[in-house]
Amino acid sequence: MDEDKVYFYQIINFYIMKKLSREEAKKRIEWLRKEIWRHNYLYYVLNKPEISDAEYDKLMQELRELEEMYPEFITPDSPTQRVGAPPAKEFKSVRHVRPMLSLDTAHSEEEIIAFDNRIKKELNCSEVEYVAEPKLDGLSVELIYENGKYVRGSTRGDGINGEDVTENIRTIKAVPLVLRDDEIPVPRLLAVRGEVIMHIDDFEKLNKELIERGEEPLANPRNAAAGSLRRLDPRETASRPLDIFFYEIMLVEGYEVDEQWEALQTLKKWGLKVNPHNRKVKNIEEVIKYHEEMEKKREELSYEIDGIVIKVNKFEYQERLGEKSRSPRWAIAYKFPPREEETQILDIVVQVGRTGILTPVALLRPVDVKGVTVSRATLHNEDYIKQKDIRIGDWVKVARAGDVIPEVIEVIKERRTGKEKIFKMPSRCPVCGSKVVKEGAYYRCTAGLSCPAQLKRAIVHFASKNAMDIEGLGGQTVDMLVEKGLIKRISDIYRLKKADLQRLPRFAEKSARNLIEAIEKSKERNLARVIYALGIPNVGEHTAKLLAEKFGSIDRLMNASMEELISIKEIGPETAESIVNFFKEKRNREEIEELKKLGVKMEYVEEGKKKLKGKKFVFTGSLKSMTRGEAKAIVEEMGGEVLNTVSRNIDYVVVGENPGSKYEKAKKLGVKIINEREFLRLIGMEKEDGEIIPLDKFMKGL
Ligand code: IVH
Repeated sequence: MDEDKVYFYQIINFYIMKKLSREEAKKRIEWLRKEIWRHNYLYYVLNKPEISDAEYDKLMQELRELEEMYPEFITPDSPTQRVGAPPAKEFKSVRHVRPMLSLDTAHSEEEIIAFDNRIKKELNCSEVEYVAEPKLDGLSVELIYENGKYVRGSTRGDGINGEDVTENIRTIKAVPLVLRDDEIPVPRLLAVRGEVIMHIDDFEKLNKELIERGEEPLANPRNAAAGSLRRLDPRETASRPLDIFFYEIMLVEGYEVDEQWEALQTLKKWGLKVNPHNRKVKNIEEVIKYHEEMEKKREELSYEIDGIVIKVNKFEYQERLGEKSRSPRWAIAYKFPPREEETQILDIVVQVGRTGILTPVALLRPVDVKGVTVSRATLHNEDYIKQKDIRIGDWVKVARAGDVIPEVIEVIKERRTGKEKIFKMPSRCPVCGSKVVKEGAYYRCTAGLSCPAQLKRAIVHFASKNAMDIEGLGGQTVDMLVEKGLIKRISDIYRLKKADLQRLPRFAEKSARNLIEAIEKSKERNLARVIYALGIPNVGEHTAKLLAEKFGSIDRLMNASMEELISIKEIGPETAESIVNFFKEKRNREEIEELKKLGVKMEYVEEGKKKLKGKKFVFTGSLKSMTRGEAKAIVEEMGGEVLNTVSRNIDYVVVGENPGSKYEKAKKLGVKIINEREFLRLIGMEKEDGEIIPLDKFMKGL
């Protein structure tokens, strides 16, 4: 669909919705749900989307609006209801329908051949057919569907009992809340097992955000997936990019399946995502080939796998083979060799992050770990070092976890010579010498932006692509500017002169001019970017956007109370507190004033049609060109809000004929007052040349 068409449908929808009868609305809601389910299936399971994200969002939006008008038609399986449950105090324990077994593991060809021989002997046949699947490195969950409806989800726990994470799993977009029945009927009961994973790039992005917010990064995608799923507040799970693959029917009633391969195809028909690399293989030679192929493919996959799983295909054979105490005899994991090497810790240095947190980092004798040279590894914090008893000079095993941050797995104690040195966290900041305080497991330099390390990082963050996007103001330049004393605080960026830059090494006339121009251009960024750029702890890009939309200006945000902040749907108490504390600091407020004086724009400008987004209106007196109801509809359609009482929070008081006491109050409080004409201009009903668009035509265009 092209843009025009989408727009056309949007207008039609707007009108349809306003005029739909209750019955018609119900029908439309049902149609929308089905349509959204179908697109989910096309996107997640078949990987063949038919519409763009924007078109999909429109369907969701329409459904949301209709459900808002007719809340009685909301059902728990509606695609709008993924996030709705309140935070839990703790997870309930639930018993799995059948024990969730684990797998024996093989690490070599010999072991896998021995496994095959045992099976052939037991079954008394010369060749056995297997299903080979990637062994996904995530966390195993059980989902229950009753008559096609998602009713429960749990973690593996001890295999017998798991934690009830129904609401958290519901937030994973790849989980259908209703099974499809267009190809085959849905079963009465289905217990299905799958693996919740986080894609590597999402993991890296999440870690970057955590670091930027001054929080501790997660060790690997598996931990990130597990940690994200097990948040007590499902809204937090919803904000984490989780995915899932299903691989095992644990129990099915009302549908017959005889083979693992068939089970996988059946899951797919029900709309449950299965891994595209699964393969049916004729014998163990093909398993070995598959293992080799997948080990190569591993490097290209967007998620982590740590081996393959092979399963005897026929269920009849599986039953004959049976189970041991905790693992089946008909399946085995064939792991890949670890991406791990041995090397020596030459030194341990301490890095100072943007929020002052000191992180110990091991400098390693460079070593090639499956194609990647590793020369540093994070040691997280003091406790980590103590737990693993890591010393300078130690020989250690390092691994690439999830292709990402190299990690010290363990110390090879046998190689100790006695010359190794115990590391101690410094009591003063290694960069600025200020006092260091201990906060939980972390040490923090107390100097704030007077610490050059923190200042440098704050500036780099401020200028980064997703923040103020100042091209040319990267790490090395910032280091130089801070070291030469040209930047002592953030606002100094806007005091830089071309001549200052030209005196620096590596700066010619042209590069100096370019940087000054880039700095100049950055003054026009929208409010969300400015908020994000300030580097308020816990405020990532998404939160910054919410704040910009909600408050509309930096001044209003600066004066926001805890209550106001918490009332925003996706902002929790911790973030709210960070924001309030940040703006309490005199230094920060001063810095914002400086930025403003230097010409940095701090107002929210909404692009597109919703130009009144977040704006609050009060009307008093009668309007000539429209009724109050029409005015309200217009403001709301343009993203604004109409309230009844005047307070300092109101953006505009629109004064018509014979205004009431609200007018007086607005004058007293100094709230912006506009007349009808100005209102028409604001909404665009009066054009620049003074022509007024007739009301019905104008409303149609909304
Ligand atoms: S089948 C009885 N298939 O590996 C069947 N497990 O060590 C048991 N896993 O806890 C599981 N990918 O979390 C199976 N394609 C796959 C898998 C898989 C990953 C995990 C699962 C399990 C662990 C077993």
